[in-house]
Amino acid sequence: MTLPSCQGSPFIENMSHPETESPGRIYPEDMDALTDFACKVARIGGTILCDYARSGFHIQRKNLIDLVTEADLCSEQAIVDAIRERYPTHQVLAEEKGLQAPHPSLYKWIIDPLDGTTNFAHGVPFYNVSIGLEYAGIGVIGVVLDPTRNELFIGQAGHGATLNDNPIHVSSIANLNEALLVTGFGYDVHTSPDNNLDEFCRFTLRVQGIRRTGSAALDLCYVACGRFDGFWELKLNPWDTAAGSVILQEAGGHLTNWNGLPFSIYEKQMVASNTLLHDSMLQVLGQKE
Ligand code: IPD
Ligand code: CA
Ligand code: CA
Repeated sequence: MTLPSCQGSPFIENMSHPETESPGRIYPEDMDALTDFACKVARIGGTILCDYARSGFHIQRKNLIDLVTEADLCSEQAIVDAIRERYPTHQVLAEEKGLQAPHPSLYKWIIDPLDGTTNFAHGVPFYNVSIGLEYAGIGVIGVVLDPTRNELFIGQAGHGATLNDNPIHVSSIANLNEALLVTGFGYDVHTSPDNNLDEFCRFTLRVQGIRRTGSAALDLCYVACGRFDGFWELKLNPWDTAAGSVILQEAGGHLTNWNGLPFSIYEKQMVASNTLLHDSMLQVLGQKE
């Protein structure tokens, strides 16, 4: 199986990989062209982030610890402008400006122009541009670009997931005590009792290690390619997870909310795993004091 690089050619959907698609599910006809376009706009955003990282940027605060930089805003503007120009009838949900929806559409782009803003603002080179596409309400394409490592993750519903054009798959770790997990904390961690600290302590006593990278989309991609074995968080937004959830699912991972019910990017809670660890992770999350 090969997925398109950023120069792939369009093809007629349902004729190219019928064996891998779920019967009864609707796929867009122009999946490869849409994926190529998502890669192109991710690269536009990535170049803007790298330019600002080199030249410096202004930072504003959304709240005490939630930052937004010139790079977030400029990357988002360029990506949204490119979508508007190429696909004027599509809906766009972008983190900084919200939903831009002139008309109902089967297509909805969900954009995080800079996922990992706190890292970026501190000069930590761990952040990404995240571009997801829903078709008829279901995630069908995910593209996540880490511009500092030049790592491009792509997921196409029914067609698998790749990292720099090489197929990726989740890990085969089946025991929590051998697992490297990753998590994150919401921007209300100072003030909300629902702050993930109890869960963090419980997992710490059960697993090989836990990381907090500060970039949810890359956390999902790292589970997808087997670098991490599982991820959980509870204050996520659609732009954090739209692209990464397609990539993880296509790499053989499993996603639910904390009750084990099917995950929606419009819910705040996520448990994401290599599938083998999923029940054990849900069990730990359910063990309230
Ligand atoms: C944040 C990062 C972080 C996660 C937060 C997100 P941002 O996104 O993905 O890892 O823990 O929940 O809000 O603000 O850097 O785009
Ligand atoms: Ca984000
Ligand atoms: Ca962001």
